[in-house]
Amino acid sequence: MERSALQVNTPELAGRYLMQTGRRLPVTFVRGQGCVLYDDQGRQYLDLVAGIAVNLLGHAHPEVLAAVQRQAGELIHASNLYFTQPQVELARRLVELSFESRVFFCNSGAEANETAIKLARKWGAKNRDGAYEIIAAIGSFHGRTLATVTAGGQHKYSDPFKPLPDGFVHVAYNDIEAIKAATTARTVAVLLEPVMGEIGVIPAAPGFLKQVREWCDGQNLLLILDEVQTGLGRTGRWFAHQHHGITPDVMTLAKGLGGGVPIGACLANPRADVFEPGDHGSTFGGNPLACAAALAVLHVVERDGLVGHAAEMGDLLRESLADLGAKEVRGLGLMQAFEFAEPRAKAFQQACLEGGLIVNAVDEHSVRLVPPLIVTPAEIERAHATMREASK
Ligand SMILES: Cc1ncc(COP(=O)(O)O)c(C=O)c1O
Repeated sequence: MERSALQVNTPELAGRYLMQTGRRLPVTFVRGQGCVLYDDQGRQYLDLVAGIAVNLLGHAHPEVLAAVQRQAGELIHASNLYFTQPQVELARRLVELSFESRVFFCNSGAEANETAIKLARKWGAKNRDGAYEIIAAIGSFHGRTLATVTAGGQHKYSDPFKPLPDGFVHVAYNDIEAIKAATTARTVAVLLEPVMGEIGVIPAAPGFLKQVREWCDGQNLLLILDEVQTGLGRTGRWFAHQHHGITPDVMTLAKGLGGGVPIGACLANPRADVFEPGDHGSTFGGNPLACAAALAVLHVVERDGLVGHAAEMGDLLRESLADLGAKEVRGLGLMQAFEFAEPRAKAFQQACLEGGLIVNAVDEHSVRLVPPLIVTPAEIERAHATMREASK
């Protein structure tokens, strides 16, 4: 296949050959380096979206590249019929960084949450008289499989696919009384994002997750935290729940874990880990290539102190958003958003794009920024200058 021919007609070919599942901005990226992306016209863009909170180390990081190259030359895939070293090493590393648990690897955030849902249902069958219902938050986002799109509290994503699976109820986020009122004998777990990302970066209120943890303990429920977007340093801690002084029973990860190589993970503590051989599986999940990439990401994040750096850069980024005419700025670490009173987020996103800056309008009012953890003060300053222009 000649790449040059593809590049010239990419949007046109996409219209003809790709299912039209989402709207794309009119740009075709061909290359990236650090926090900069290059399009097929040779234009460069400062990237404050990082593939939607994925490229923790930016683009083309030499150590991720070296790890992928090395692993590709040794063993890309062998299946989960056998042991492979990168997979167990990665599991050990994740457990060391988080809490006493064991890990199931998959390929995406949705699959990680699907795993958590299945785990909770099996746990309910064994420990709570067949309870299966999961309480989740209105406005949450947990993926696009049938179960996870139902778990997510946004009708626009799930209604076209009715009938939906049974067993999910939704309550207001940051409202412990609503969770208490929704709990019944059928309830098996509470599933929450520590910061709701897709809906526009809504952090858990101080004390909320602690109250949920206590309620789950008192009622014998599992607490499942979806850290697909918040995990791995993004919020200025390795995992966002660490801001709240609590530990979940089950935690899901994906996005940043592989630094761009698809991988997801579901961690469960000994109480929740009820899977037995045959219960669950994935052909590609945790294959050596993805795990080698993830090990390189974790190594660099740790060695270069990028979790603390994310906290510092998050403060800087947040301060820089104060003069854009937004009615609200909110977020945690390098997961920030601002909301305009008027419906102009999409126009703002387009103006930024034209100014060589990538931001993410999550709807008509809110703009999300989830840059690589390696972003520098100079890059934040540059981004701010472009955003100032775009906000005029
Ligand atoms: C919190 C959260 N959970 C799950 C997902 C789904 O992840 P994936 O798109 O990898 O399936 C996302 C994706 O945006 C997310 O933000």
